[in-house]
Amino acid sequence: MILPIVAYGDPVLKKKANDIDPQDNSLDLKALIENMFETMYAASGVGLAAPQIGLSLRLFVVDAEPMDEQNLKGFKKVFINPQIIEEQGNAWAFEEGCLSIPHIRENVERLPKIKIKYFDENWQPQEAEYDGMAARVIQHEYDHIEGILFTDHLSSFKKTMLRKRLSSISNGQVKADYKMKFYHKK
Ligand code: NI
Repeated sequence: MILPIVAYGDPVLKKKANDIDPQDNSLDLKALIENMFETMYAASGVGLAAPQIGLSLRLFVVDAEPMDEQNLKGFKKVFINPQIIEEQGNAWAFEEGCLSIPHIRENVERLPKIKIKYFDENWQPQEAEYDGMAARVIQHEYDHIEGILFTDHLSSFKKTMLRKRLSSISNGQVKADYKMKFYHKK
């Protein structure tokens, strides 16, 4: 099932998400993961975090194969309750976008190497190291479950430059070629 993607301006995107309880039977995790992949593919994204579909849970999915880079072949993964335990190297900049922030792309500096602990879709504990673009995709999605958006990494000058466009998005004055959900203040 394709779900609407939460747009910039919704407080769920600014909240630190909660760990998923493996004993929680009220959550159909398998269906949720399937829906997240389907939603991500329908929007031509390479990553999607649970807060982006309105769930404040520490879960994200990635499939960066469409980025067509050698080290991203078959890079399709599910990260449950992840924890980045190490980040290192010299920061490098790359233009990022986000399905919650359509039509805006900006350079974001990130460290090139990470070590991450997480559970996979079968609740098997994993620990892995990533670098380059794979690390960046994970860092972007990991930020989402920490309540951080790529725009939060920009200089205050850049943020000021983008303020109008960001408030248009939060007001629903944006066209994306996928379904979005806008937060309306009461
Ligand atoms: Ni994003």
